[in-house]
Parts: sequence; structure tokens; C-alpha cells
Amino acid sequence: MGDNVIPLADLRYAAAIPEVPAHFAAPSGLLSDRLGRPLRDLRISVTDRCNFRCSYCMPKEVFDRDYRFLPQTSLLTFEEIERLSRAFIRHGVRKLRLTGGEPLLRKHLEVLVAKLAALRTPEGDPLDLTLTTNGSLLERKAQALVQAGLRRVTVSLDALDDAVFRRMNDVDFPVVDVLRGIDAALAAGLGPVKVNMVVKRGTNDQEIVPMARYFRDAHGPQVILRFIEYMDVGATNGWRMNEVLPSSEVVRRIAEVFPLDPLAASTPGETAQRWRYRDGAGEVGVISSVTQAFCGECNRARLSTEGKLFLCLFASQGHDLRALLRGTGADIPGRTDDEIAAAIAALWQSREDRYSELRSAQAGPAGSGQRRIEMHYIGG
Ligand code: GTP
Ligand code: 5AD
Ligand code: SF4
Ligand code: SF4
Repeated sequence: MGDNVIPLADLRYAAAIPEVPAHFAAPSGLLSDRLGRPLRDLRISVTDRCNFRCSYCMPKEVFDRDYRFLPQTSLLTFEEIERLSRAFIRHGVRKLRLTGGEPLLRKHLEVLVAKLAALRTPEGDPLDLTLTTNGSLLERKAQALVQAGLRRVTVSLDALDDAVFRRMNDVDFPVVDVLRGIDAALAAGLGPVKVNMVVKRGTNDQEIVPMARYFRDAHGPQVILRFIEYMDVGATNGWRMNEVLPSSEVVRRIAEVFPLDPLAASTPGETAQRWRYRDGAGEVGVISSVTQAFCGECNRARLSTEGKLFLCLFASQGHDLRALLRGTGADIPGRTDDEIAAAIAALWQSREDRYSELRSAQAGPAGSGQRRIEMHYIGG
């Protein structure tokens, strides 16, 4: 494929090539967007593929054998991801999360983990480096990931009941294999492990208390279970408000069986509200992006597999950083590190996204009718 040919699958989501300002200052680490929010968290998608077909994320009817995932040439290389990460760190990013699709499907991921684990903040500290996975390959890979320098991991798991779980992942994947993955992660030193459950009313809400009970009994404080309100991300999942079970109801159901007390946030801009079991068996969290939007402190940026920057999970427009890295032909060569950092600064400074807050105000999916990015493409 010639240098100037943009693969079709790359054109699925609109992305402009960012402007590089003519004059710029060195990054101060104190970047702030139009709503006064800093940049602290970079979520890096390393593949748009997944071996599951959760209906709220990659429904089988859409993501079938004919679906065209991104070709290998479109993906950012590990060197490119590392280079961009350095630029983001100069601007204040302190947490790096690898996502997918399913990130463990990306070949030699531990090589990338090692590169990112070696990065340091301007103060000389390592980053908070983590990964979100469906757990299916974790038993096999936990050890190598830890050896490469991974610090912690979040596992998605929507049910404990095998039949419900197989139905939700829609590829008949057994729950025991994910539970073994979690055990392997703990044994390898990745604890405490966060386990994320997306709650859909009428589909898996009966699993809330069994999930809480299982992880309390099996792992205590070593597993932090979090319940996520089902969101209207993307356009393929046919989201309906009546399938959202409010987090307040989740907390009520758990507290009926295991009394809970609220905990303070551990970091600013945290997605989860935390609760601790009164008997000391650990904590759970709820992520209430539908009923209690948390855009006010949102310090997260998202980098897609092919190097597009999205400033909101619900954005419909990305910013093509890969074009800055690689150049766009012989007459427009790749940019320097300082130029790329300056372009990122300009983007963040003009950011005013707060989709979830606007949606709550409208009591229904908001937006201009433009196609929004999909979760499998940008990760959680
Ligand atoms: P840690 O607590 O540091 O592990 O990270 P986190 O709380 O950011 O958690 P994680 O990445 O596991 O995100 C959990 C879920 O929260 C995601 O899968 C999304 O469903 C939701 N989420 C995360 N970030 C955002 C966000 O910026 N906006 C919205 N609306 N939802 C988000
Ligand atoms: N609503 C809420 N969370 C979602 N995720 C994916 N789709 C949705 C949705 N519609 C989250 C899940 C999954 C992670 C990869 O993204 O937590 O574990
Ligand atoms: Fe399910 Fe996560 Fe795969 Fe989406 S990326 S289909 S939520 S396992
Ligand atoms: Fe951040 Fe957008 Fe999520 Fe609001 S909806 S918290 S702005 S990513």
C-alpha cells in the first residue's frame, strides 16, 4: 500500500489533522481545558478486535464475518504509542490505561507494556500503568505482563452464572475461565484487581448480589467490584433508558444483604463512587455516568488504535495524531516531539465536551445526530 493511501476502515470515524500552532511554549504539565479540567489520564486502545460479542458493545449482527476491522498498517506501532505517551506525560498525564477491543489480542503486548513501564513523570516517578481486559486470556498472560512491568488490571465480568455470562458474551465463553484469569492476576501480584460489571436491567441485574457475595468471600479486599450503569455509547447497541438500573438501586440491593458505608474518592475525577463493607470485607464501587454524570472533573483523553485522539467517550470527531507522527506524504513530513506536544495542548485547551451531563439534562441520548464512536473501538 502506498504512503498516501488511507485504508477504508480508517475513514469510519471523522478525524481532522490537528493544527500545529506557529508559536508555542514548552509543556508545563498544567494544561487546562475550557472548563478548567486538567489532563491526567490517557486511555490507549491497542486493537479494535475482540473475541467476545457483548451485545452492548459489539453486537453479532453488526460485528460479523464481513466486518472490516482496521488493517495492520493502520495501527500505531509500539514506538509510536510510546512517543505519544511521552508527549501526554509532559502535559500532565499520570495514568495510562491499555484498552481495546480486547488488548490481550494485540501481538506482543508485553513489549509495549515494558516500554510504557519504563516511562517516568517529570518528577521521576513511574506512571500508573493498567489494562482493561475481558479476562479470557489473562490466565495465560498474567505472569508475562507483570514481568514486563504492568502494575494492575481491570477485568470486565457481567455475571457469575455461567448461562447468563455465556449469553452476554455471546460467544459461549465459560465464566470459570475468567475467574481463573482473575485468580492468576492476583497470584502474579496484580492485586487488588478491579472487576467491572455493566448492569442491564432485565438481563443481569439478578447477578448483582451473587457477584458481590462471590468476590467478598473468595478474595475480600483483593478484588474491588464495580457496577457500571449501562451507557448509550456508540450507535449499535440499541440503548434504552429503561434498561439502565440506577446505581442507587445497586447500592440498595447490596446493602440489604451486606451493610455498606460511603468512602471518599481516592483521586480527583474518579469515575467510581466507593462504598466499603461495614464488616471490613473490602469495597465496591458504582459508576453512574447516566444518573450522576461526572464530566465536571473529567481528565481523560482517549487514543484510538490508529492514532486518533478523542476528547470524550461520546465524541463523533477525532484528531488524527498519526498524521502528525508519520506525515501525510513527501511534502508534509512527520512532526517533531515539540510540535506534536503543542498540537495536543491546543486541542486540550479548546475542549469543552461534557456529553453525559448534557444527556442527563435532556433525559435521553443527546448529540447532533452525528455518528458516535463505538466502545470496541475506543475501549472503556
Ligand atoms: P481506575 O479506577 O483507576 O482503575 O480507573 P477507572 O475508574 O477510570 O475505571 P475504568 O477504566 O475501569 O472505567 C470503568 C468504566 O467506567 C468504563 O468501562 C466506562 O464504562 C466508564 N467510564 C470510564 N471513563 C469514563 C468517562 O470518561 N466517561 C464516561 N461516561 N464513562 C466512563
Ligand atoms: N455501557 C457501559 N459500559 C460499557 N462498556 C462497554 N460498553 C458499555 C456500555 N454500553 C465498558 C465495560 C467493558 C469495558 C471494556 O467497557 O465496562 O468492561
Ligand atoms: Fe465485550 Fe469488552 Fe469485547 Fe466489548 S471489548 S465485546 S465489552 S469484552
Ligand atoms: Fe468525560 Fe465525556 Fe465521559 Fe463526560 S461523557 S465524563 S466528558 S468522557
